[in-house]
Amino acid sequence: MIGDAEHIFPAEDGLFEETFSTDNTYRVHGLNITIHQDYSANLGVAASVWDSALHLCQFFESMSLVLSGMRIIELGGGTGLVGIVAARLGAHVMITDLPFAISQIERNIALNTPLSGWPSDAPVVSVLSWGLDHCRFTSSWDFVLGADIVYMPETFPLLLDTLVHLCRDGAVVYLASTMRREQGAQDFYDSVLPQMFNVELMQRDPESNVNIYKATLR
Ligand SMILES: C[S@@+](CC[C@H](N)C(=O)[O-])C[C@H]1O[C@@H](n2cnc3c(N)ncnc32)[C@H](O)[C@@H]1O
Repeated sequence: MIGDAEHIFPAEDGLFEETFSTDNTYRVHGLNITIHQDYSANLGVAASVWDSALHLCQFFESMSLVLSGMRIIELGGGTGLVGIVAARLGAHVMITDLPFAISQIERNIALNTPLSGWPSDAPVVSVLSWGLDHCRFTSSWDFVLGADIVYMPETFPLLLDTLVHLCRDGAVVYLASTMRREQGAQDFYDSVLPQMFNVELMQRDPESNVNIYKATLR
């Protein structure tokens, strides 16, 4: 077991009240990752590092999932933490989100560029709005990742279409979700995702209410 609970919470933080932003350093996978979160830029839910992102990073570690050399696309990256960790571990990563979140992700990539350079490449950042422009993207991925992106039932069909397209060439999906009853997360994993995917519950954490699912296209 590489990750333990105390390592998934911020190791340091600094609050800059005049700009309503924080810089937190997370210790994941033996890496210190600094994430800038800008609460003054109307980023909404994209401004925060959500529990699911931390649990997904910890899951990579506990499963000893080999990420080096893998082609990875992250959906709804928010701050970019998950994709940045994957890229620091040697994956070729594209981090996607809605347009307003892109500059925050780019800033966090810059903050976490190793002095010696990225082991493979720096993560690439791109706008991907589920169900709208997913067809602009290739299907050549090893993994499709998402942390806390299952919370708006009206987007579930859009997310499903996006996942189907991205997985046409055999990518494996890993999604981490806080299972908020009122936001339909269980319904997504029980009824929506299984319409097109084989779905497996990989990890359940009753304390945090974060589940991790693996899905492969049928
Ligand atoms: C709860 S946040 C999770 C952020 C990050 N993955 C984490 O766990 O810290 C949800 C993310 O999904 C993005 N998002 C919401 N609706 C989206 C859509 N229709 N297309 C693409 N991204 C979307 C938001 O901008 C936000 O970054």
